[in-house]
Amino acid sequence: MRDRAAYLRALGIEDWRLRGGDAAVPAAEVEAPACAGPAATAGDSWEQVAAEVAGCVRCPLHQNRINTVFGVGNRQAHWLIVGEAPGVEEDKRGEPFVGRAGQLLNSMLRGIGLEREVVFIANVLKCRPPNNREPQPAEVAQCLPYLERQIALLRPRIMLAVGRIAAQNLLATDTPIGKLRGHVHAFGASRTPLVVTYHPAYLLRSPGEKRKAWEDLKFARRIYREHSA
Ligand code: URA
Repeated sequence: MRDRAAYLRALGIEDWRLRGGDAAVPAAEVEAPACAGPAATAGDSWEQVAAEVAGCVRCPLHQNRINTVFGVGNRQAHWLIVGEAPGVEEDKRGEPFVGRAGQLLNSMLRGIGLEREVVFIANVLKCRPPNNREPQPAEVAQCLPYLERQIALLRPRIMLAVGRIAAQNLLATDTPIGKLRGHVHAFGASRTPLVVTYHPAYLLRSPGEKRKAWEDLKFARRIYREHSA
């Protein structure tokens, strides 16, 4: 077991933890989601989705990409982490969350005892938007079905949406992220538990919000444990 204090320091919450302990979790409005994930369409497979993503030309983002970014991790993972879209580093390497935000995401996950290798990480968009601008609705409309197929194949026990774009698109809502945090949402027909937290890139710009993200992660861990018992 690695030194958890180091991960908490990376989150910038060492002092808070020493003062406040590990107990405070935001009040939750649990919507009683079920644990079973959606059934994959008969005949679909990881290989099929990966091949389609690799050759995708559904939207203009394919024109400037170096790599598609399919997602990475354990295909038997209980946890699915969903971000927004690849950035410059991710486009170069073909892997999600490998830049600075990715380092922080890794620390956040380790803070609740999860190594990157045991979860699955994917994005709403599989290609990098120019200058890291926000995904456009037409791009999301073309790309989200890939993520939905990944979710159906993975059948995660819990989903963690990092950032407004992931949260709003997965939940088909325009509710602000501040209001989506602290609740258990139910994703799709399977009603897979979904918890929302801030995007690590936002946390790098606004380190004062890291404590809230830490609360969200502990909340997600609690929900996972409750629904896996
Ligand atoms: N930000 C995201 O949302 N996803 C990545 O893969 C990298 C940065």
